[in-house]
Amino acid sequence: MTATPREAQFWNDRYSGTDLVWSSAPNRWVVEVCASLLPGQALDIAAGEGRHAIWLADRGWHVTATDFASAAVARLRQQARQRLGSEAEGRIQAAVADATAPAPGGPYDLTLLCYLQLPLDRWQIVLQRAVEATKAGGRILVVLHARENLMCGFGGPQDADLLHDPAAIQRSAVGLPVAVQRSELVSRAVDTDEGPRQALDSLVVLRRT
Ligand SMILES: C[S@@+](CC[C@H](N)C(=O)[O-])C[C@H]1O[C@@H](n2cnc3c(N)ncnc32)[C@H](O)[C@@H]1O
Repeated sequence: MTATPREAQFWNDRYSGTDLVWSSAPNRWVVEVCASLLPGQALDIAAGEGRHAIWLADRGWHVTATDFASAAVARLRQQARQRLGSEAEGRIQAAVADATAPAPGGPYDLTLLCYLQLPLDRWQIVLQRAVEATKAGGRILVVLHARENLMCGFGGPQDADLLHDPAAIQRSAVGLPVAVQRSELVSRAVDTDEGPRQALDSLVVLRRT
């Protein structure tokens, strides 16, 4: 159940301009969870323009960053070249890959799944791939736009089928060799054209057993 060429084209079109689509700063939950971890091998699935891969590589991690949009991977490489010294840039391997396919390389100490909003059946396959790619004792960090955003939050796709709350993510992990370390609905302040708002995220940290 891989993505259609049309889906990748949608994202390639989004990345076709000259400006960054997303912030270049790492997400606050990624920073909160990962800042205290010892650098090792990391996998960033659906890495987009590479804000997390770049942040991790700058902290000494060796990062494999994948995205199915070739324009995202090109932008990620360009950003890494611009923002990192050659040593840290050399710690990033970027590749075009569908998140539902087995991940390249590994096993990894840390696997990121950030804002990859897919219908639940495909999301479950992606989570399974993420777990398979992670070594025993390693962590899988999931940050998604929460479904509650539709009622009282801000941002993310306005389609309930693509939005998953922490309990749904935990249910997706049932039967996989993981232990749940953290599972919370968290709130993040964002500046918008209409003033400050709260974006609600599902934050789940799994430990590979
Ligand atoms: C909202 S962006 C998030 C990017 C990055 N994780 C971040 O937090 O900045 C979602 C990314 O998922 C990628 N994507 C969507 N479906 C995918 C799939 N099936 N396989 C791989 N990447 C996918 C898109 O190309 C896009 O770059």
